[in-house]
Amino acid sequence: MTVMDNDTIKSILARRSYKAFDSRPFSEDILETIIEAGKYAPTGRNRQAWHFTVVKSEDGKKMYKEALTDFMINGGGPKVAPPPVPPNIIVKPEPEFRGAPVLILVSGPASDDLVRIDCALAMGNMFIAAASFGVMSGWTHTTVRDLFPDPAVKKKFKIPDGNDVYAAAFFGYPLGEPKDRGPRKEGTVTVV
Ligand SMILES: Cc1cc2nc3c(=O)[nH]c(=O)nc-3n(C[C@H](O)[C@H](O)[C@H](O)COP(=O)(O)O)c2cc1C
Repeated sequence: MTVMDNDTIKSILARRSYKAFDSRPFSEDILETIIEAGKYAPTGRNRQAWHFTVVKSEDGKKMYKEALTDFMINGGGPKVAPPPVPPNIIVKPEPEFRGAPVLILVSGPASDDLVRIDCALAMGNMFIAAASFGVMSGWTHTTVRDLFPDPAVKKKFKIPDGNDVYAAAFFGYPLGEPKDRGPRKEGTVTVV
């Protein structure tokens, strides 16, 4: 028995990002547990100012496809010029959900300067919790800017007023193999 046999460590090591998923749904119990794990991530000043939006109905998927297409083509409105996309970032549409049964969006108050970190930590917890059940994940978009800048789109997804979407990821049983991610980089740790 070594420290690497610890179940939590095993889930952390097993977690991978996937580009394709089996459309077979995973159980509601697992979904609820994944979200519960997200809610137990730390937040600055314990604000817990986040909101979790689960997109899994056919209508929800269709809305996402429309919103994403608008985001890709028009910047997602409201109809003002979107901020420029940095040249090193490739934004590709993924309207087909990568085949996944579930997409989870984590949003929080746009006015809050810590919330982006809170949302990312929640997503990290959810990725590891999911991996512990053999459910894998795939982060999508939201590195460039809010995924749904149009308040009307946010309303459709019942995202609380004033929130921006800071993290979005697909969840499902994996299909195929994940991309080779290579060994962990050397030289990223300093002890002082
Ligand atoms: C902030 C962030 C943004 C990401 N954006 C995307 C994305 O837009 N599309 C995608 O396919 N994967 C995205 N990923 C997943 C990374 O590509 C993936 O984590 C990395 O290649 C390492 O692979 P692994 O997660 O299997 O270890 C993102 C991950 C993070 C943390």
